[in-house]
This record gives sequence, C-alpha cells and structure tokens, in this order.
Amino acid sequence: MKNTKVSIFVIILSLVNSFLCSAALSVWQYFTSSQIDLALVLIMFFVFFIISFVMFYFVYNPFIFNRINEVHKELNQILPQHEIPDTKFQLDEIDPITQLEVDVKKIATERQKEVEHLKNLESYRKEYLGNVSHELKTPVFNIQGYISTLIDGGLSDSSINLDYLKRADKSVERIIHIIDDLETITQLETGSLELELDKYDIAAQCRDIFDALDIQARKRNIKLQLVKKFDKPLFVHADKYRIRQVIVNLLTNSIKYGKEGGKTEINFSLYNDEVIVEIKDNGIGISEQHLPRLFERFYRVDKGRSREQGGTGLGLAIVKHIIEAHQKSITVSSTVDVGTTFTFTLDRV
Ligand SMILES: Nc1ncnc2c1ncn2[C@@H]1O[C@H](COP(=O)(O)OP(=O)(O)O)[C@@H](O)[C@H]1O
Ligand SMILES: [Mg+2]
Repeated sequence: MKNTKVSIFVIILSLVNSFLCSAALSVWQYFTSSQIDLALVLIMFFVFFIISFVMFYFVYNPFIFNRINEVHKELNQILPQHEIPDTKFQLDEIDPITQLEVDVKKIATERQKEVEHLKNLESYRKEYLGNVSHELKTPVFNIQGYISTLIDGGLSDSSINLDYLKRADKSVERIIHIIDDLETITQLETGSLELELDKYDIAAQCRDIFDALDIQARKRNIKLQLVKKFDKPLFVHADKYRIRQVIVNLLTNSIKYGKEGGKTEINFSLYNDEVIVEIKDNGIGISEQHLPRLFERFYRVDKGRSREQGGTGLGLAIVKHIIEAHQKSITVSSTVDVGTTFTFTLDRV
C-alpha cells in the first residue's frame, strides 16, 4: 500500500465506526438482558471493522477520488498542460487532496496575475487611444476649418487662399509626424524592429547632426557644439540610423525648450568598454516632480509649449526604447532655469 496517509485515515475511520457500533450493541444488550456478552461484542467489533474498512476503502474512497479526478479533468481543460501535472488520482497515489489544493491555489494565483495584466493592458489601451485621438484632433479640425473657409468663398480671395492652403499643408505635415512617431513606437514596443548594428564614428555623426539642425538652432540663437574637439574618430557599435534618431530628438528638445541665446553641448567620456554620451543644455529645465514620468509616451511638462513647438510627446519614449534595445540605459538630470542633461552609454569598439 503506497498511500499510507489514506490507509491510516481509512483504518482510523473504520476503528471509530466499529467502536461506535460495538458500543451500541453493548448498550442494547445491557437494556435487554442486563448482561453484556463480551465475546459477541468483540466478534462484532471485528466484523464491523472489516465491513467499515471494505466500505471506506473500496467504495467510499474511490467514489471521492473519482470526483476529484473529474474536477482535475475540468481543471486540465481550462489550463494549458504545463501549468498542472496530468495526474490521474488513484487510491494509492500521494495525497491527492493536498495535491489538488496546491493546484487550485496555483491556478488562482496565475489567474489573478492574468487578470491584473489584462486590466493594465485595458487601461493602457484606453489611455493610448485617448491620447492618439487627442493628438490628431487639433490638426484635423484645423484642416477642416481652412478647407471650409476656402469652400465658402475663400478660394477666390487672394489675400487668404494661398495662406490657408499652406496652413492646411502644415497640419497635414503634423499628422504625418504623429503617425511616423506612432509607427516607430509601435515597432519598438512590439519588438518587430531589429537593430542593424554597425561600427561607426559617433563624433562625426554628431557633427553631421549639428549641420542638419543648424537652421533650427539659429532661429532660436542656440549654439550646438562638442565639448572637446574630437579630431580622431570615436567608434561605437550601434544602430547608426536609430542613434541618429536619439541624438536628433534630444538636440531638438534642447532647442525647443532652450533659452534664446543658449547652448547645447555634447560630451563623450570613455569608461571601460563604453562611451558615455552626455547632452547638456542650459534651457528652461524640468522640475523634479516631472522627471520620473518624462520618458512615458505622450508625457509633457508644458503641453501648450510642446504642441506649439510641434512636439508629439513621443520623442523621449522613442529615445528610451532605442537605447534599451541596445541593452543600455538613459538617465536625465535637470534643474529649473539652469538646464537639463541627458546621459546614455553605447558600446565602444
Ligand atoms: N531639454 C529639455 N529641456 C526642458 N524640457 C524638456 C527637455 N526635453 C524634454 N523636455 C520636456 O519633456 C517633454 C517630453 O519630451 P518629448 O518626449 O520629446 O516630447 P515633445 O514632443 O513634447 O518634445 C517635453 O514636452 C518637455 O516638456
Ligand atoms: Mg521631443
């Protein structure tokens, strides 16, 4: 007999049963003949024990475990196979009730986790949809306004027609910008974006980006520069196109949220096998309470200013995803009215 727990339980139950029956027999004898036949009581005790044992062990016991087997079968159907061992409970198996209890607890925990996860996804989906429609609403309404005015006679008014078309064009450009950012973030979040790692000179890349952003920086009279002159190439192992996106995003932010006449500097320092890239501005800064949420999608410190500057609120979320896809991290430190510094690392070669 493998299952001693079950057997002991059945024996005790049978003993109790036969004891109670024998006691009842003795009481009956006492009241009918005032004499107790001890030999008969002992024989009956033994007979009751055998009957009880057979009943419990071969009838009642399997009946319970058949039920447990049914429950277990049901559990197996609602759960993937690996979550629950496919045991057929037999009479002689290891404590099936405890095993079932463990399984049910496990299922309850798993289900709880699943429910929490689904709830999070649901609120994320709602928030995301809300944000997307909110972002698209303004430019779409603007376009509708310009077109309606043109239809209602503005088309023949040479003082506004070209201007309104240009404004509508700008709003279309903004929608495209939002869609591009959304597409990038979706690719990054679903993991469908694969990095194309390459060995390239990041100092040269920064000088290149400075040239590309020159007009934008000049408009706000902001100077873009490398802290130290990097005459020699500084090679990193990274996705050139994606890192360009990161640097452009951070520099554009420093221009948008910089002070007129300010400056943005890029500094490289070497640490073991890594290059630490620091992008530092002396702009308006960000107060401490905003810093923990700064990299969340659609998070902006000053919504009005961001929209006015053509921001989507997705830039830093994209930046973070790209750096994390390189198995690195990005940090920010900032003081209001003093400036902001973003720091990230890349592998050096
Ligand atoms: N260099 C910076 N100086 C001050 N504030 C910044 C800077 N970079 C980002 N921010 C703040 O962080 C917010 C999020 O940035 P980002 O994700 O790039 O979105 P946006 O499209 O608004 O630029 C911005 O709206 C801005 O309020
Ligand atoms: Mg930005």
